[in-house]
Amino acid sequence: MVNGSTPQEFFPGLAGVPAAKSSISFVDGQTGLLEYRGIRIEELAQHSSFLETTYLLLYDELPAQTELDRFTADVTHHRRIKYQITELIKCLPEHGHPMDALQAAVAALGMFYPAKYVLDHQVQYWSTIRLIAKVPTIVAAYYRLRQGDEPIPPRDDLDHAGNFLYMLTGTVPDPLIAKVLDTCLILHAEHTMNASTFSGLVTASTLADPYTVVSSAIGTLKGPLHGGATQETVAMLEEIGSVAHVRPYLKKRLAAKQKLMGFGHRIYKVKDPRAILLQQLVHQLFAQHGRSPLYTLAETVERVGEDLLGGKGIHANVDFYSGVLYKTMGLDEDFFPTIFAMARVSGWLAHWLEQLKDNTLFRPDQIYDGQHGRAYVPIDRRLGGV
Ligand code: ACO
Repeated sequence: MVNGSTPQEFFPGLAGVPAAKSSISFVDGQTGLLEYRGIRIEELAQHSSFLETTYLLLYDELPAQTELDRFTADVTHHRRIKYQITELIKCLPEHGHPMDALQAAVAALGMFYPAKYVLDHQVQYWSTIRLIAKVPTIVAAYYRLRQGDEPIPPRDDLDHAGNFLYMLTGTVPDPLIAKVLDTCLILHAEHTMNASTFSGLVTASTLADPYTVVSSAIGTLKGPLHGGATQETVAMLEEIGSVAHVRPYLKKRLAAKQKLMGFGHRIYKVKDPRAILLQQLVHQLFAQHGRSPLYTLAETVERVGEDLLGGKGIHANVDFYSGVLYKTMGLDEDFFPTIFAMARVSGWLAHWLEQLKDNTLFRPDQIYDGQHGRAYVPIDRRLGGV
């Protein structure tokens, strides 16, 4: 009820309730269509780069060559992180989750680069550049520190994905692996009103600075029903262990009312188009580096999962093959969601800019179903037992 009078319908999880008007991306879940600013994801995966796609998401146009050169140079120039941020990451527990380290470091960035005047276009441009540039450096620094190694400073002559892989290992990566990772970043960059974007938007609507906006979105992305599903999918595959165990394992899991990780989506009722593109990337890697047994297992899980759940409109989602791909690249499983964050920071910032153009504070309603008019009971007369 609103003010005790108007009856309201309640939609758990706000399913189907529009939270914003947006021109950034579009999904048709019935046909498996995903567009960024009107361009199909398949075209971007084939022809674009992550930084070009980021520009498109932020500014609604594909950049001219000079614009892309300037944007790329600005991002490249701002990759380094202050030593205090590295020191802060060093103080975090080695066994902590990398998403928590990323969230803490991104929130701390906001203290070094105050961005109070969020409507100022210079503040918007430079904080966007800094976040896109520094998130990979933070992820790579924690990756190395956790293994007892010193962070490796970024290299200006490498592209976005190539530099990230270099900062992890100190070796210039194979161009195909860098290209595949760059395409993964394009595929994960944006996806309409998902949970982390919504969380970032709520924060943005308070006119909080963009570092706070992104750190709140990182916290939401971490959960196993969202970006954390990449890691959980690989854990599930490892638990299954072999092709022979697939069907009994999946049946037992479903009978126990447990979800199959990497399956299902609030919007897609067909196979996620990003999962199809990720599979193509896996095949490109295998053509050069040999096939991985984990992928053979994943294909069987998808086939059996499809058999058991496909009729309910539950199919493989983006997280199903991305974990297999990152594992094939040799990355640690708990870092998978941070790669998702490296990509999605573009979408979060695009929504932040869009929200600020016509901001209204998010303040939804609730349907109260508690009690009224209860007496305050003194502590010596309470029964306890809660
Ligand atoms: N495995 C088994 N059953 C499933 C799955 C799944 N992965 N997903 C949905 N279902 C079933 C539910 O059990 C439920 O069945 P019921 O009606 O018989 O009770 C029905 O489908 C509806 O499920 P909900 O969870 O209510 O649907 P929702 O639209 O909220 O689901 C979600 C979306 C949360 C992603 C869900 O599919 C899920 O938990 N999947 C596994 C985790 C995952 O892969 N998350 C990544 C999503 S993609 C991303 O965030 C980038």
